[in-house]
Amino acid sequence: MSLLFSPLKLRSVTLKNRIVMSPMCQYSGQEGHVTEWHLLHYPTRAVGGVGLIVVEATAVEARGVISLEDLGIWSDAHVAGLQALARRIREAGAVPGIQLAHAGRKAGTASPWQGGKPLHRWTPVAPSPLAFHEGWPVPEELDAAGLDEVRRAFQQAARRALSAGFELIELHMAHGYLLHSFLSPLTNRRSDRYGGSRENRMRFGLEVVEAVREVWPEDLPLWVRVSASDWVEGGWDITDTVAFAAELQKRGVDLLDCSSGGAIPGVKIPLGPGYQVPFAAQVRLSTGLSTGAVGLLTEPLQAEAVLQANQADLILLGRVLLRDPYWPYRAAQALGARAWPVQYERAF
Ligand code: FNR
Repeated sequence: MSLLFSPLKLRSVTLKNRIVMSPMCQYSGQEGHVTEWHLLHYPTRAVGGVGLIVVEATAVEARGVISLEDLGIWSDAHVAGLQALARRIREAGAVPGIQLAHAGRKAGTASPWQGGKPLHRWTPVAPSPLAFHEGWPVPEELDAAGLDEVRRAFQQAARRALSAGFELIELHMAHGYLLHSFLSPLTNRRSDRYGGSRENRMRFGLEVVEAVREVWPEDLPLWVRVSASDWVEGGWDITDTVAFAAELQKRGVDLLDCSSGGAIPGVKIPLGPGYQVPFAAQVRLSTGLSTGAVGLLTEPLQAEAVLQANQADLILLGRVLLRDPYWPYRAAQALGARAWPVQYERAF
């Protein structure tokens, strides 16, 4: 029996299959607002058969956007557009989820097709005043009041995500953005209780989880995406990730989405099919926490094999879903499975 096409229950939310659309910035927002592009792009993948869509990195503060065209959730005015988006995703057959994000020191860039360079419109914030790279801004170190502001921004964003009708939140703690930069010793040089030991570096991320869990209903799932490794000697690694996963689990996180990299530039990552799967496998094995596997998973048999080998509970697909919104249908055919259980069948 196909596991890829088996339902999965997360708290009160049932996914009709184990295929998740990985969050991917569309660089199509206007001052954080949803546009027609999003209203076409996401429901298309839902119609194509994915069980869950995690809408792209959506900024909890204006100073926390990656590009100026990112989606935002820092004001009540953003809710109406997000509500339309969540509703359409659901009507098209998938569970609507959203990734809440803060870009930290990597905030404020041009979109990739405009070069992706920092625009220097404002001073970004970070755990320590270290620029990401030459030509990038030196961020301001967050003080106690600043940390409080960011924590509240995540909490407020979770409230708004709920009122917009999203059924799952993923907190973005990967790819060198704000919450990852607290975790990694490469980017966190603080000497207060948020820096130094691993326990201290984990503190801010865990506080954000607690703040979000306070307002996010108990019957709805909460995920975290991490960079399971910085791929650098002396950086954050899989042992750290396992320790972090155990703490996240205690605070009501339901799944760890295991990505990697992004803390510092110029790192050589051994890219290859399923190259991040061992991270998902190790976290799952060591902690019992559910995991999502992501990264260069493109073939139905490969995705099915990851699940059959108990390496992950779900498969997140990125670029392959940009190329082929109907990937799930093709996969069902290739695996000789129904695209979804009969109760989800629509009258096509
Ligand atoms: C991404 N990725 C990404 N990750 C994330 O956590 N939040 C985001 O908003 C984005 N944005 C984004 C935009 C685009 C255009 C791409 C291609 C990627 C990373 C993505 O979710 C995924 O982890 C990687 O693409 C690896 O998976 P694939 O593409 O190999 O299946």
